[in-house]
Amino acid sequence: MAAASKSHVERHTYKGVPLVAHIKPEAMDIIRDLDVRDDDVFIVTYPKSGTSWLQRIVSLLRFGGDVEKTDQTEIDVIVPFLEEMCGESATLREMREAQSPRMMKTHTRFDQAPLQLTQGKGKAIYVARNPKDLAVSFYHFHFMVNTLQTPTSFEEFLQNFIHGEVSRGAWHEHVLGWWQHKDDSNVLFLRYEDIQKNTRKQVEKVSEFLQWHVTPEVIDKVVEHSKFSKMATNPATNKVEGKEVKAGIFDTSRGTFLRKGVVGDWTSHFSDEQSQWFDTFYREKLGPSGLKFDFE
Ligand code: A3P
Repeated sequence: MAAASKSHVERHTYKGVPLVAHIKPEAMDIIRDLDVRDDDVFIVTYPKSGTSWLQRIVSLLRFGGDVEKTDQTEIDVIVPFLEEMCGESATLREMREAQSPRMMKTHTRFDQAPLQLTQGKGKAIYVARNPKDLAVSFYHFHFMVNTLQTPTSFEEFLQNFIHGEVSRGAWHEHVLGWWQHKDDSNVLFLRYEDIQKNTRKQVEKVSEFLQWHVTPEVIDKVVEHSKFSKMATNPATNKVEGKEVKAGIFDTSRGTFLRKGVVGDWTSHFSDEQSQWFDTFYREKLGPSGLKFDFE
């Protein structure tokens, strides 16, 4: 890993929730008041939960599995980041004028998401990932993102993560906020680990939920072209030359966006003590909710 050097990165907060420096708090107010369309699709996650995987799945479904067409445009243009779009008047206008169905990704908590979405308009696909692998992924991500402070150690990062002192705040609050709405008719709640276990089944769920009915052959193509190995070697999805790199937000000399894409990488980072500490903490936080992750 490259040497740490981003030691004083500015950070905002919005209603008490920390935000990465390049997201403007004003954008969050715009998001809350957004005019949602019935056929809008929002991919919602806490960072590092598999957002880009869902962006790929949804775009391929949208284009009927036509990989050439899907690959003509960078994934973050097909499914743009809502917080960035709402941060500038030009991109906000672009989003307001975009053709339907609009597809967007966002990291908003339920209580900060577009109000109309939380009231049943449009559709939200929430992806949750087990907190141990997520923390490992987020730790590495902090090295490559210029607007995130470089951790001095994994232990320090875990302390910040568990106490919500990272961008988007406490993971359990984010995931539980959406989990409580998992049965809303316009919310589909998925787990990263389930997509790993049986991608086809989860892609079928997404297609049914969006009512974008496609043939089994199209599902085959979506599964094939959303594989980690395919996405990692594809300029449209691997973010090596993408929007964030051009904007100076990602520094690809310090890490890889599509890093490992596996379940269980936490075992090579966590000590036994850290593992037990996480288990106890999250058992207490998630226990009563019934939300569980299969990641051992
Ligand atoms: P790792 O850092 O563990 O590799 P997000 O898109 O929300 O930022 O999440 C990024 C994480 O999802 C990274 O995890 C990335 O490798 C993983 N990911 C992205 N596409 C994937 C795919 N097709 N299959 C498996 N994991 C994927």
